Amino acid sequence: MLGRPYVLALLWTLVTLGPAACGPAGGPAEGRRLYTADLAPNPGSGLSNPDPDPEPEPEPDPACPTPTLSSLRDEVFLPLCSSCHSGTLAPEGLALDLAPTELLARLGQPAHGSPSGMPLIAGGRRGGSFLYLKVFLETPLAGVQMPKDAPALSDCQVEALGAWIDAGALP
Ligand code: HEC
Repeated sequence: MLGRPYVLALLWTLVTLGPAACGPAGGPAEGRRLYTADLAPNPGSGLSNPDPDPEPEPEPDPACPTPTLSSLRDEVFLPLCSSCHSGTLAPEGLALDLAPTELLARLGQPAHGSPSGMPLIAGGRRGGSFLYLKVFLETPLAGVQMPKDAPALSDCQVEALGAWIDAGALP
């Protein structure tokens, strides 16, 4: 009868000391587990904690033509050039209000004003394209900057033309 409290006390001692006795082996392992669990990526973190100061997406300027033949034709050549450059009396015989296919063929021809026979548009080379230089340079190789008697094209209009040429002046 006397042994029962003793056994209970011994059990109690083992129970309370047990984790402490295992401490040196189990403690650090347990600690590492918690640590890595804390660092584990939280798949919802992007949604629940959005960047308070996100970089604004660059908006395309609606006033800039896209670097395509149809956009340049509709937004530059027709409104800004064809008042002079149309029909049989167009300066240098250069009509810019042609349908896209004819326009592209015409732009591949040599420029009248170029002593070296530079084409109006040389696919892949804006610097070798007389028409580009005619709108880009304040003092072109021949004649005056285009559009004549009007403000120069905006930077983004010139850049769209240059980008279209550099990409190959595709239809
Ligand atoms: C007010 C009339 C007028 C407008 C508008 C005009 N041009 Fe001209 N363009 C001329 C005249 C005149 C010439 C010939 C004299 C010269 O080259 O400066 C010419 C010549 C040119 C030439 C040289 C062609 C060659 O074969 O040598 C190009 C290229 C040209 N223009 C492009 C344009 C473009 C592109 C626009 C519109 C952005 C434009 N022009 C707007 C009157 C105009």
